[in-house]
Amino acid sequence: MNVLQQPGNVAAAAPAEGQTVLSVRHWDDRLFSFRVSRPAGFRFRSGEFVMIGLPDDSGKPILRAYSIASPFWDEELEFYSIKVPDGPLTSRLQKIVPGDRVIVRTKPTGTLVLDALLPGRTLWMVSTGTGVAPFASLMREPETYEKFQNVILTQTCRRNSELDYGADLHRRLLEDPLVGEEAAVKFRRYATTTREPSERMGRITDLIESGQVFADLGLPPLDPAEDRVMICGSMALNLDMKRLLEARGFTEGANSRPGEYVVERAFVD
Ligand code: A2P
Repeated sequence: MNVLQQPGNVAAAAPAEGQTVLSVRHWDDRLFSFRVSRPAGFRFRSGEFVMIGLPDDSGKPILRAYSIASPFWDEELEFYSIKVPDGPLTSRLQKIVPGDRVIVRTKPTGTLVLDALLPGRTLWMVSTGTGVAPFASLMREPETYEKFQNVILTQTCRRNSELDYGADLHRRLLEDPLVGEEAAVKFRRYATTTREPSERMGRITDLIESGQVFADLGLPPLDPAEDRVMICGSMALNLDMKRLLEARGFTEGANSRPGEYVVERAFVD
């Protein structure tokens, strides 16, 4: 009998489901990031999200939407997640180690893409918590710097440790061979805490209303003629930012109809 036709060998030859976990980093007791191999032929636009999950025996794995935190040209995919102790996915996902498998569905989607914005001078990327993930992708995207003269990433979190991933993104950005030099001139990170003392405190919405953020960055107040805004945070922040922008004459954009701002809810909370 031909040994290759034995059932055991056929099973062994079948590819394991999912992508290989390449590295995992825990930022604090609530947050971690990880990198996985990129599915063959997978294409996406910087800022989009995909469904990811863990293989299981039921055949119906639990999948959740995750923004891809790496740019379209990266050979690996990065994700940034919270750990929910009894969360259906994150209670297990937080335990992954290099070599494990993660399912990545290859149907990317999302509104936080450069195509959904009209041309402008300054790009504001406004986030809370894990909402920084799509901006981790866009801040390493060369087109971001071709299209905008200033790129500002704001991140508001309760505690200092929740800002560590964003600080590390900034460090890595400046070392990036593709966009590092341009980013050093155009990119600025504006991080604030609300429940722990830090260099900068307060909700970004309040800092916009008071004008403090513009004074700190030496930029003019938000103007729909010059500024473009991407928002990714909690539902409360998204709604407040939307109101704030619309009161200033900004209109919402979409893939099919670019506008002056776009908004998406930060996933997995
Ligand atoms: P605050 O501590 O004042 O509630 P959460 O962990 O609840 O998702 O919040 C993340 C961060 O977003 C916190 O710093 C929180 O500030 C801030 N935040 C919550 N709601 C809003 C809002 N409506 N506008 C601006 N920032 C908000």
